[in-house]
Amino acid sequence: MIIAIDGPAASGKGTLGKRLSEHFGFAHLDTGLLYRAVARVMLDREIDLADRDAAHQVALNLDVTDLDDPRLRGAQMGEAASVISGYQPVRDALLAFQRQFAAQPPGAVLDGRDIGTVVCPDADVKLFITAASEERARRRHLELQKRGERIVFETILEDIRRRDERDMNRSSAPLKPAADAIILDTTHLDADAAFQAALDLVRAKS
Ligand code: C5P
Repeated sequence: MIIAIDGPAASGKGTLGKRLSEHFGFAHLDTGLLYRAVARVMLDREIDLADRDAAHQVALNLDVTDLDDPRLRGAQMGEAASVISGYQPVRDALLAFQRQFAAQPPGAVLDGRDIGTVVCPDADVKLFITAASEERARRRHLELQKRGERIVFETILEDIRRRDERDMNRSSAPLKPAADAIILDTTHLDADAAFQAALDLVRAKS
């Protein structure tokens, strides 16, 4: 059983993916962490993010067992990840690992931008989680504050809008709902209500 969750930055898909995976006893992969991990290596080695070949090499050699570094979740890493994720060879290099992960029994939940469209087009359930950009910025602001990052709300909102724009308009795996995805707008739902709504959708589908 594969549950694919896609959606824009800070839409709550990570939280939802984690809760669904715990509920069903499935493994969970936040695929954004893979792109963030490539970005981290690039930044640590002071490699220009515009260097596509270097990004490809980093992706090919990525240590996928090392996705727990709290630095990966920082705002700077999200922005850098959004740049290198536009390079098709980087995406190709990360594909096999994601598909292997998805195939593990008894099931897996993967969240990202292209899970329902590219990584797992045959997923049993495809959810596309969205919310108004102001609401997503508010949630991300709270999350970053909790982590001790001091960033003003307007900066986060701008960052989210820029990333949405880049993720939706790139030629490689642009962010868009799969034709058979169910769209869940969480603008007016808290995490519990979003989880309940998603659970109902998964049960109805499986
Ligand atoms: O979801 P998260 O904010 O961690 O993702 C960081 C960036 O990685 C996104 O802005 C997007 O450009 C990229 N990404 C992607 N495909 C995925 C997951 C993330 O292109 N499946």
